[in-house]
Amino acid sequence: MYKLTDVLYSEKDIDAKVEELAKKIESDYKGEEILLVGILKGACVFVADLMRKIDLDVNIDFMSVSSYGSGTTSSGTVKILKDLDVDIEGKNVLIVEDIIDSGATLRNLYDTLLTRNPKSLKLCTLLDKPSRRKVEIGVDYIGFEIEDKFIVGYGVDYAEKFRNLPYIGIVEDV
Ligand code: IMP
Ligand code: MG
Repeated sequence: MYKLTDVLYSEKDIDAKVEELAKKIESDYKGEEILLVGILKGACVFVADLMRKIDLDVNIDFMSVSSYGSGTTSSGTVKILKDLDVDIEGKNVLIVEDIIDSGATLRNLYDTLLTRNPKSLKLCTLLDKPSRRKVEIGVDYIGFEIEDKFIVGYGVDYAEKFRNLPYIGIVEDV
């Protein structure tokens, strides 16, 4: 049975990290407009907090994409379940993701959005599991690098549960 076994990052830890990322983004995009593209559902909490800490002209939109099973290779294109509402041509687009594992989701999403001719396209993730990477992907903003543990909370789920936890915890088979 799967159980929440530990707290990895407290509300306070997360708040400080999101603030740090927001200030970095703010200085990198100084004087520019920015479109944050939150990847549903996992990034919903992160993007909501992040946007409120960025003192720039910020727009927001969302995408929902199908994720890969653990055994799946990275070669396919990502299936878009909900596309953006806005045209991103000529815009500064920052993709906001909850967690990067193999990198397949972001790699595919990045390549897809690049064909739409944004002015710039960058990636931001709250969590990264570099040891799990199967696909090469350059990430511009990374919150926390973590070990290969299954985490939940702050928008991230296990079987659609735990998204509402205000902290990030570890789920284990006990
Ligand atoms: P990737 O395409 O392999 O990088 O998968 C990234 C996606 O897998 C994330 O957006 C999450 O939805 C999911 N994921 C990866 N690791 C975890 C985890 O530890 N907890 C919950 N979801 C995860
Ligand atoms: Mg996700």
